[in-house]
Amino acid sequence: MERMETPVTVVILAAGLGTRMKSRKAKVLHRAGGKTLVEHAVDTALALTPAERVFVVVGHQAQRVRAVIATPGIGFIEQTEQLGTGHALLAGRQTLSPLDGYLVIVYGDGPLLRAATVRRLIETLEGSDAAGALLSADMADPTGYGRVMRGVSDRVTAIVEQKAATPQQLAIREANMGIYCYRADLFWRHVSEMQPDNPAHEYYLTDMVQILNRAGHYVTAMKIDDPRECLGINDRVELAEADRLLRERKLRELMLAGVTIEKPETVTIDGGVKIGIDTVVEPFARILGTTTIGENCCIGASSIIEDSTIGDDVMIGPLTVVTASHLERGVHAGPYSRLRPGSYIAEGAHVGNFVELKKTRLGAGAKANHLAYLGDAEIGAGANIGAGTITCNYDGAHKHPTRIGDGAFVGSNSTLVAPLEIGDGAYVAAGSVITDTVPADSLAVGRARQVSKEGWAKKRRARSAVPPSGGK
Ligand code: UD1
Ligand code: CA
Repeated sequence: MERMETPVTVVILAAGLGTRMKSRKAKVLHRAGGKTLVEHAVDTALALTPAERVFVVVGHQAQRVRAVIATPGIGFIEQTEQLGTGHALLAGRQTLSPLDGYLVIVYGDGPLLRAATVRRLIETLEGSDAAGALLSADMADPTGYGRVMRGVSDRVTAIVEQKAATPQQLAIREANMGIYCYRADLFWRHVSEMQPDNPAHEYYLTDMVQILNRAGHYVTAMKIDDPRECLGINDRVELAEADRLLRERKLRELMLAGVTIEKPETVTIDGGVKIGIDTVVEPFARILGTTTIGENCCIGASSIIEDSTIGDDVMIGPLTVVTASHLERGVHAGPYSRLRPGSYIAEGAHVGNFVELKKTRLGAGAKANHLAYLGDAEIGAGANIGAGTITCNYDGAHKHPTRIGDGAFVGSNSTLVAPLEIGDGAYVAAGSVITDTVPADSLAVGRARQVSKEGWAKKRRARSAVPPSGGK
């Protein structure tokens, strides 16, 4: 984190309900790019200032909004009644006004805003003797936005809201993005001059521009090229658009950093994911949460990887699901494998099609190539788990562990009834039901002996032969 000399306080306005979302959930709790909207705003803030200088104004579903913000140290301001953007600041006056330096104000429903842009806004103010700086953009259609009024030397004299604007003012295409940086002392000195003297009877934060001008200060604006960065989510169409833009941004970042992404328009990668160079991500893959992937891997088509750690040179075949698991270097998994939470696949091990692992450690170079369920198991290096092997880890009440030693060989279609231990180098005959410890280097056969009755089938055919037609 880059610390600026003058302290920065960031206030995130997130008290609104967001009626147009048509939701039982407050707007800022909806997700885009793998995170709730408010988390995006918080992450932007944390890139600018320490948590102790970040404050979230909460109102609707305050408890739930607080709950998704995990970083300790962040402050919350309760705005029980939403009487406007200016009122949201007034609600935090006691807490915020003693904090010196710069006061940055952003919205909780604007997930696309980059910390770098806000930093430029702060620097714009730093390099001037203005009382505040705001973000603006020239928009083809600024309907709904406040319009930026400019005076001498391009200084901003006022923001006029859509509803209050004259036809001439409505013709102005420069729109207020709603992101501000003020000199904290001046802002708080004049904050009580905001009045709800508008048709909506709200306290408009935008009035601060005129108020500071009236007090002999001036406000400046920093124009951004792409107003989409300040897109505020109002409905689910905009939510989908923000999600798409965030994902595009992430994919672009990864591709420029050396990751090959095939058909990127089909791939979903969350913001927190890290991927090493020369890894190839195939179409329709979803890589989510806190996943880290090494170099030179392949993530197969339509695979879903979540909250997992994957080393270098790992091949994930198509249609594989990996959740909260760890795969070391050189592992092969899939196609059609399912690695459930707590699985650990050591170097060079193979997990093949229709193999399910849960809380299971597969040792280095071990193989479970086809059709198996391995749960609560610890499997040694170089072990071979035959097709159809099942660990019976659950007795209807409790889960029990299975231990399989290094270099053990478990024949196809074995049923391993846990708790169970199979020693190093032991063999289990195909089709066995194993209920007792198998000592190291031994062979366990747990199946009924085969009986072949000679001529039995031929006799049966003769007995049951269909009689000639007409017979009864
Ligand atoms: C605001 C600006 C407008 C600007 C636009 C950019 C004002 C008066 N107008 O309008 O000039 O062009 O943003 O998007 O500020 N909020 C609270 N508490 C409140 C009211 C709002 O926390 O009492 C939060 C909302 O949850 C929302 C944000 O502040 O995230 C913006 O409020 P909103 O009412 O949407 O402002 P706009 O009408 O869009
Ligand atoms: Ca808005």
